[in-house]
Amino acid sequence: MLYMNNPLRIGIVGGGQLGKMLAMEAKRLSMRVNILDPSDDCPASMLADELIVAGFNDAEAIERLAGMSDVITYEIELADADILASLERKGYRVRPPAHALRIVQDKFMQKYTLNKSNIPVAEFFKVSSIDDLHSIARSIGYPIVLKVRKGGYDGRGNIVVKGYDDSNDKIVRFVDARGGWDSVYVERFIPFIKEVSVIVARSSRDEVVAYPVVENIHDDGILDTTIVPARIPEGLAYKARRIAMDVIRALDGIGVFGVEMFIAKDGKSMDGECEDGYSILVNEVAPRVHNTGHYSIDACNISQFEQHIRAILDLPLIEPRMLCKAAVMINILGNDSINGYYAIELEKVMRIDARIHIYGKRINKGRRKLGHITLLGDDLDELLRSAMHIKSALRLVSV
Ligand SMILES: Nc1ncnc2c1ncn2[C@@H]1O[C@H](COP(=O)(O)OP(=O)(O)O)[C@@H](O)[C@H]1O
Ligand SMILES: [Mg+2]
Repeated sequence: MLYMNNPLRIGIVGGGQLGKMLAMEAKRLSMRVNILDPSDDCPASMLADELIVAGFNDAEAIERLAGMSDVITYEIELADADILASLERKGYRVRPPAHALRIVQDKFMQKYTLNKSNIPVAEFFKVSSIDDLHSIARSIGYPIVLKVRKGGYDGRGNIVVKGYDDSNDKIVRFVDARGGWDSVYVERFIPFIKEVSVIVARSSRDEVVAYPVVENIHDDGILDTTIVPARIPEGLAYKARRIAMDVIRALDGIGVFGVEMFIAKDGKSMDGECEDGYSILVNEVAPRVHNTGHYSIDACNISQFEQHIRAILDLPLIEPRMLCKAAVMINILGNDSINGYYAIELEKVMRIDARIHIYGKRINKGRRKLGHITLLGDDLDELLRSAMHIKSALRLVSV
């Protein structure tokens, strides 16, 4: 229950923008928010009732966080599944459960688990050497994708092998740098026509709800734009949402998960879930609130962040619904020319009718996520034009 004199307390491992946006929703409900992060000026620090400055594998500090919280959750896959599992054994409530995190952290185990539950994924293989890699590729056809099992993000853990003539030295160097052939695996290359995702939530009462399917545009591996709803046939969207609900159940997830999928044309040969010549394959799952769900703060009756808080505290979930016909979210990204203190010039952008979110990161490094902007309206084409306008007006300067 939400008592003002005895507020519910949530502990979050990670104080980045996801932690901050979780904290904002928790604060709206007057909960106590405890954060653990290595940096004392992390984005969520301004909202934390208690900030524990410690590393993500500091077992003692994470237990301290658990001790002061009714539930602990995490905003990063880098959270330590062993530490969280040992806290569960001591009786602390960890959501999503440590075993779900452990499976998702290892992309090979993730694919294996989804495949076993009849969820469509691209064919995947263990690989033991460069010769083995090419023999797999000859049997399924080039190109193939070589992926690191753990710790990859923003496209940095993948390489596409286009043919036998590809630089084998480069491939071997990639594998060696990531701990050898046991640390990687191979996937069939999917010539997708769109990348979409679905935010899905599940509570311990096995209540499951899914947000609308959204369409994602990446720029060099980093999310640039999310378009809501995805421009795909209705039957396909229905299937994508159903698949996302199957995914969270298959992983026994509790909380909000982001499920990334490929839409391919004529996918029958690829064994995907088919609809009118299209097929859907799950690419990867995030066991946490997801960048492609940020639009829900402004465009939905309930944001992914409040939904997550409800799910991890065994409170009722709400069937998500759009409050407008369409939304477009664009990320505000740093660039390589600014390393250090920066300012975002918002004068021009603020003249446009849009919802601006600034994360408050003091330092930029490369293409860091610094904020996002959501446009709401009736006409998607108009929103996309405004989004282009905003992008050209956005300036980042070194200070
Ligand atoms: N099997 C595949 N076929 C084609 N493209 C892929 C495949 N796997 C990944 N990609 C592309 O690479 C991007 C990053 O891969 P992903 O597995 O999602 O890693 P990350 O954890 O870095 O997001 C995807 O968004 C997609 O564009
Ligand atoms: Mg991805």
